[in-house]
Amino acid sequence: MMVDLRSDTVTKPTPGMRAAMANAEVGDDVFGEDPTVNALEARVARMLGKQEGLFVPTGTMANQIAIRCETEPGDEILLEADAHPFHYEAGAAAVISGVTIRLLQGDRGVLQPDVVRDAVRAPNVHHAPARLFCVENTANRGGGTVIPAEHVAKLCAVARDAGLSCHLDGARLWNAVAAPGAEIARALLAQCDPFDTVSVCFSKGLGAPVGSMLVGPSRLMGRARRFRKMLGGGMRQVGILAAACDYALDHHLPGLLDDSTRARRLWEGLGAQGWEVERAPQSNMVYFRTPNAPNLAGRMDARGVRCLALGWDRIRLVTHLDVDDAGIQLALDAFAAEHAEPSPGAP
Ligand SMILES: Cc1ncc(COP(=O)(O)O)c(C=O)c1O
Repeated sequence: MMVDLRSDTVTKPTPGMRAAMANAEVGDDVFGEDPTVNALEARVARMLGKQEGLFVPTGTMANQIAIRCETEPGDEILLEADAHPFHYEAGAAAVISGVTIRLLQGDRGVLQPDVVRDAVRAPNVHHAPARLFCVENTANRGGGTVIPAEHVAKLCAVARDAGLSCHLDGARLWNAVAAPGAEIARALLAQCDPFDTVSVCFSKGLGAPVGSMLVGPSRLMGRARRFRKMLGGGMRQVGILAAACDYALDHHLPGLLDDSTRARRLWEGLGAQGWEVERAPQSNMVYFRTPNAPNLAGRMDARGVRCLALGWDRIRLVTHLDVDDAGIQLALDAFAAEHAEPSPGAP
């Protein structure tokens, strides 16, 4: 047996999801004729309190379209120092939008309002004008941090006062609002309210094989549709994928609370074994420090536990749909064995 804790992107579609995909009604989405995509775009826009949605293949494309829509070449965008578009989107903002990225120092992915206020410079011919402020929630490299809606509102208020638009990278927004049933809807609206645009992914905690969505106001979404086409993201009978995402919202959203519970159990277990765990998880991610992380990841692999080395001294473990209680136990047993008796190759 093995358990894959590298990322929540490794999930495989369930039989129910595959059946929903097989039975999806489809049409040519570039002509706007795929009923399953149209329904999903409307559903997610409604859930997130925005006027329109645009289905795209990836979270990267959703973020990059948002940046392109809300800036012009030569503008500056403000991101927290660990933000995904800076670290993991292959420099796309520079190429696709021609913008400069200004990184702001937060604490585990969370900025303070005065840091945002101080970062916006007065108009001056020497400056790249700041146009867009982005927040990531949950903050992935921050440790899966959940940024409370009230704090997000304060950050965006400062950015708006300075004339900036606001974008939420909500690839794991679903994890930020993991809660018992009815509370989810309210929490989603509260989280999204301060933003012009929001991107969400269905291919992470929700377990769909592909699919993300950008939502925003009608004034921007025509432009967003054009940039999607420009980037090669106009897909045809893509209701097959939208059906998987729709199914994920119906069947997998409530289960995210279990992922948080399992992450907590993992964190407690690792801490008790003496691993140098970071702060208690707020969502589905557990991070810990260890010398020579890539080496440890390789050894754990041999013990049937896949984990991700981030840099030289940090390991990330992520719970998801395909990790059950037995998987957590397997991981804890393997880490305990490694701690007690490091396998050959230990530093
Ligand atoms: C916070 C965040 N934003 C955006 C993305 C990009 O998503 P994708 O891999 O679908 O391009 C990721 C991917 O893991 C992510 O963690």
